[in-house]
Amino acid sequence: MNLRHVALVAFVMVVVFPTLLLLKPHLRSIHQGGQGEDIVLLPEPRLTGGMSVEEAIAKRRSIRSYRDEHITLDQLSQLLWAAQGITDWRRKYRSAPSAGPTYPFEVYVVVGKVEGLSPGIYGYDPFRHVLIELKKGDFRGELQRASLNQEWVGDAPVDIVLVAFYERTTRVYGERGIRYVHMEAGHIGENIYLEATSLGLGTVAVGAFDDERVVEILGTSGSPLYIFPVGVPNG
Ligand SMILES: Cc1cc2nc3c(=O)[nH]c(=O)nc-3n(C[C@H](O)[C@H](O)[C@H](O)COP(=O)(O)O)c2cc1C
Repeated sequence: MNLRHVALVAFVMVVVFPTLLLLKPHLRSIHQGGQGEDIVLLPEPRLTGGMSVEEAIAKRRSIRSYRDEHITLDQLSQLLWAAQGITDWRRKYRSAPSAGPTYPFEVYVVVGKVEGLSPGIYGYDPFRHVLIELKKGDFRGELQRASLNQEWVGDAPVDIVLVAFYERTTRVYGERGIRYVHMEAGHIGENIYLEATSLGLGTVAVGAFDDERVVEILGTSGSPLYIFPVGVPNG
């Protein structure tokens, strides 16, 4: 093999192959790759220690009352990693199981009080483990009103919203993909519950809201299925 061949092989390995991987639609985040985007690097997630799974399952409860306190960026990072973080970098597999795996979910974060983050709406990019700022301002009140005025949505320092892009899964599985997406929301949601419990935080799965209003608030083209307000439990 001469030098030209070596250079060509290196180019394909280092530039072409990773680019094709990124462009594979089911692997690519809708938030990824925009120019001039404002990103916030998240702290590395902790992969050991913490509460045992058994203890977290035993202690998990839906919590609807939170202290008027910030949560930390470390805690938010850990919650997002538990929701959709990459756990197998070679295959780009994530923390929650997915049929296919087609990964139909994007995670949006409505921030009010998180240390080191301005209030706003952010998208989680699991590949870079970063937040991408989508809108500035505190939208928790609007989200509460869109959620049949459930106070915990507005009171929590942060709301994590699971948004489904059905076509990623129905493209592969047809109509049956719809049920797979709903099953996956449950997997991700339970991860958020258990991680929150392990961190000493509280959350509740909120499924009752006006879909169209939540779509407008987030500015998304997907379908919001779940809102998880998270905060330090009161009492
Ligand atoms: C699909 C689904 C939708 C839910 N929607 C809401 C909701 O809109 N608001 C709320 O306060 N709790 C909601 N919950 C939480 C349940 O009320 C809660 O899980 C139930 O009372 C059992 O309590 P536990 O989670 O502490 O075991 C929902 C739970 C599920 C699974």
